[in-house]
Amino acid sequence: MSYLRKFYRYTVTAIGLLPILAGAAPVLAAFPRPTQSQNGMVTSAHPLATQAGVLMLQQGGNAIDAAVATTLAISVVEPFSAGIGGGGFAIVKVGNNIETLDFRERAPKAASRNMYLDAQGKVRPNASLEGHLAAGIPGTIAGLAAVHQKYGKLPWRTVVAPSIKLARQGFTVSELYTKQAQSKQKLLASNLAARQIFTRNGKPLQPGERLVQRDLAQTLIAIARNPRNFYTGSIAQAIDRDMRQNKGLITVADLKSYQPKWRAALCGKFRQYNVCSMAPPSSGGVHLVQILNTIGSTDLAALGWHSPDALHLLIESMRIAYADRSQHLGDPDFTNVPVSALINPAYAAKRRQEIQPDKARLSTTVKPATTELLQPFLRTEALPTSDSRRQLPTAPAPRSESMETSHLNVVDSQRNVVSLTFTVNYRFGAGVVVPGTGILLNDEMDDFAIAPGVPNVFGLVGGEKNSILPGKTPLSSMTPTIVTENGKFRLAIGAPGGSTIITTVLQILLNVLEYKMDVGSAVAAGRIHHQWLPDKVNVDPWGFDAATLAELRRRGHAIEPREYWGNANAIEQLPNGQLSGAADPRGEGTAGGL
Ligand code: GLY
Repeated sequence: MSYLRKFYRYTVTAIGLLPILAGAAPVLAAFPRPTQSQNGMVTSAHPLATQAGVLMLQQGGNAIDAAVATTLAISVVEPFSAGIGGGGFAIVKVGNNIETLDFRERAPKAASRNMYLDAQGKVRPNASLEGHLAAGIPGTIAGLAAVHQKYGKLPWRTVVAPSIKLARQGFTVSELYTKQAQSKQKLLASNLAARQIFTRNGKPLQPGERLVQRDLAQTLIAIARNPRNFYTGSIAQAIDRDMRQNKGLITVADLKSYQPKWRAALCGKFRQYNVCSMAPPSSGGVHLVQILNTIGSTDLAALGWHSPDALHLLIESMRIAYADRSQHLGDPDFTNVPVSALINPAYAAKRRQEIQPDKARLSTTVKPATTELLQPFLRTEALPTSDSRRQLPTAPAPRSESMETSHLNVVDSQRNVVSLTFTVNYRFGAGVVVPGTGILLNDEMDDFAIAPGVPNVFGLVGGEKNSILPGKTPLSSMTPTIVTENGKFRLAIGAPGGSTIITTVLQILLNVLEYKMDVGSAVAAGRIHHQWLPDKVNVDPWGFDAATLAELRRRGHAIEPREYWGNANAIEQLPNGQLSGAADPRGEGTAGGL
């Protein structure tokens, strides 16, 4: 991040938040100023992707058309974060109906539980993160085609067109792009096709240089003719061939059988709001609602924004939620996930009793809920008769995810809404481009628990429920979220950031709905994060005053500054019906109004 951008970010945020810090009525003429519009709005992580979405709205398309065009454009201009070689989740509001689409990657048929272990049962370093074996079956194109077929208005080829143009004509890479590519220079240079596209003789493109992706343009042209072309025919065969030549597992049969899944949205009540988000195989919705339930009726605004009391409650609520995540979450099509208990306000109230108002608990003393504890709060799912209690694993510090994974929101004039998060997982995914296609493959297999208690790249530990099986979907934290009030659209949010996605969305939601901040300030504001293990509170280094952090330390919290936070964005509907949108000053995204 340039010093100029950093300076801008810190200064404008501080100015915007002054009234809150001073305890004044939290009604802000805040900075960075959100974009306002009556007729439609797109927020995304890249100006060219936002433009692609706005163009669809201008051409008479609806939110779904714009979201598909924006997603495909991000796939071209943000290859380090998300793309057609990955997968994701969308939550869609059309009329009064809210539903979600799961187009996450799935494990290939030849995948197996111990595929990343050596003969001694030890994890092979980086095997789930780099190279062909790290890739799950991509879902992005199948997902976009499914949501467009159900709700889109414009022809499919029209919504694909902007991404073809961006791939064919190229775009100027930014400082952010170069930084991401530099951090993966060795990996990118070691794969011939990736090296040819993303580097000049093994060195990342420099800011101001043009990235042209001719093979990707041809692939997108084939997809524009028919999205099934990705899963059958020459594209599928190219993936299959590359896999066979490089000890990967994905076959034409895997691709042919890939299906996105429509799933009921996971919703909870918070104050007068209906908060709907992604159900498993993402953990996002479950734990967002669980943490909101744990806050319950406590008036956070009365405690004060970023006050030690409010932060303490948030941290302790996060700690419990992430402990539950480690044991109870997985792909619901393969394992029993006690969703109804975890999002039951009565369960949260019970766990809230564990929280001491003035003292942090050690994560070693905070356990995932037992079967017995959850049982009374279950509505439909049965639990296995016993939990196999695990030793607490020792979790190393996660590698910091910065901008990888990408989120976008679209709201149209009819107030149809799409909130969509997608990813190739860690920076530049597996670092593998399928020759002749321009498709950069994901490393989503790392989101499985590759061995009991072994943390993934984000430091998240998982259990049996997130073990690898053929066709299974790795557990995610992606949290695309839509909030309604009296049935009307109120707020759409999402973020990248690996394990921090859930807590980022939580805090933006609270900033808008509880602290009455505008979306610009809400997205820009400093954040905290606790994920049970490792037992520490990450804080935005500039976001909290020294006295507050000292008080949190006094209560026993291990505070650790964290430089990188998810590049979020959000759109809200104001009481006067105007849309107000903002992209995170941590990234280079924009909000575009119609
Ligand atoms: N790959 C990050 C996530 O899905 O949570």
